[in-house]
Amino acid sequence: MDKFLVDDQKALKELYSDCLQAMKKSYSPYSKTAVGACIWTKDGKKIYGANIENASYGLTVCAERTAMFSAHLDGVKKEDQIVLGIAADFTGYAYPCGACRQVMAELLPFSCPVVMFDPKGNYKIINVGEIMPGIFTKDDLKNL
Ligand code: THU
Repeated sequence: MDKFLVDDQKALKELYSDCLQAMKKSYSPYSKTAVGACIWTKDGKKIYGANIENASYGLTVCAERTAMFSAHLDGVKKEDQIVLGIAADFTGYAYPCGACRQVMAELLPFSCPVVMFDPKGNYKIINVGEIMPGIFTKDDLKNL
């Protein structure tokens, strides 16, 4: 699949079920909130992420970031990532935090859709390019 089609209901259902699978890997003894993420790649790979907490609370890493870092470590190219899905056992939609949005802008293509599910499987979709207004990127750095 070259591109994730955001109106493909079958693909959205499958992505939701992948995110639920990922949630099972959550290590969240402190918040008792499980979050799961899944990245699909052009060549059909699925990369999973879950939130990993720590007794030193601030060291917690969100599900989205563990998935994106894992994709990077697996050698998946930025342009080969076609969708990122997120699900959580929150009551509402699994909106990514600001830190994860910043990392998305770095590691995912701007055209990549981010699908945020609620616990009933309803979803909202936003592209990485629209994920945070005025986002800081490498283009803002001085050319050294
Ligand atoms: N969490 C995520 O995994 N992703 C987000 O975008 C928001 C928050 C996790 C972090 C922590 O383990 C738990 O949810 C409660 O904040």
